[in-house]
Amino acid sequence: MAEEAMRQIQWFPGHMAKTRRMIAANLSLVDAVVEILDARIPQSSRNPEMDRMVGTKPRLLLLNKADMADPAATSRWIAAYRQKGCLALAVDCRSGKGIRQFAPTVREQLLHELLEKRHAHGMVGTPIRLMVVGIPNVGKSSFINRMAQSKRAKVEDRPGVTRNKQWVKIGSDMELLDMPGVLWPKFEDQTVAQRLAFTGAISDDIMDLEALAGLLLERLVQYYPDALEARYHIPDLCTEESGFTMLERIGRKRGMLISGGEVHTERAAIMLLDEFRSGKLGRITLELPEQEA
Ligand code: G4P
Repeated sequence: MAEEAMRQIQWFPGHMAKTRRMIAANLSLVDAVVEILDARIPQSSRNPEMDRMVGTKPRLLLLNKADMADPAATSRWIAAYRQKGCLALAVDCRSGKGIRQFAPTVREQLLHELLEKRHAHGMVGTPIRLMVVGIPNVGKSSFINRMAQSKRAKVEDRPGVTRNKQWVKIGSDMELLDMPGVLWPKFEDQTVAQRLAFTGAISDDIMDLEALAGLLLERLVQYYPDALEARYHIPDLCTEESGFTMLERIGRKRGMLISGGEVHTERAAIMLLDEFRSGKLGRITLELPEQEA
């Protein structure tokens, strides 16, 4: 079923290799890396090669879209990252929640030692330089715009379209390096691909939406049955045999029928995915640190 849902995902290995080279070439220009993740799928929204690419450079993980994630799960992820020695913060770049903690965390925790050394050597005024990385749609532009307190034009990262890296000044002592390029995780892992598709990170144009919605329902039944009951008020919905039969019942309840009384399951799938992605099912996290270890 998983394979059915992913007809074809375009991965552009050449484009990714170029991005990797650019990151490697620019690492020496920055003091630290800010890696943006989707708080609903912190593991699946990471490029697994990032650890190797970033090496020993200090790194701050931003669990973005925390407004849509289950707060208890987000706290568990942050604790798990911290246990591994990696600083992590929950943010919501759409509303700005959590963003105020960013600069103090960089200065007082992430780069505390480096800044003390600089101070001791009289290097005042040297800006803190940070590289911002993350997969497409994770919120890199939203983060940079929030920090810059301005709305810069978004430049799409598409194969064949080159855009240059850009430094964005933040306040008096910080600069963000906005890296162009695309760094998808490995789609060969079907679980990763599915979770990216649930959140809308992968374009719906290449998906079998009914299969995808069925898979999402199967996931939600496992971890958030109450959210489904509360939203759709369908008796025993969560005891249905498959995600697809759940989808049919949801579509029927919403009156999505075609001639002959059958359910228009594609419309139902679009509605379900849209309701999940817009937070109408509540704050939901699709993976937990204990499951991914
Ligand atoms: P990118 O540069 O990494 O590709 O991502 P970008 O900032 O463009 O964000 C992708 C989408 O995610 C945007 O929505 C953006 O508003 C949304 N987003 C970013 N951060 C957050 C967050 O913390 N919470 C929530 N709920 N959404 C966030 P869009 O619908 O594509 O664009 P728009 O309608 O906001 O203009």
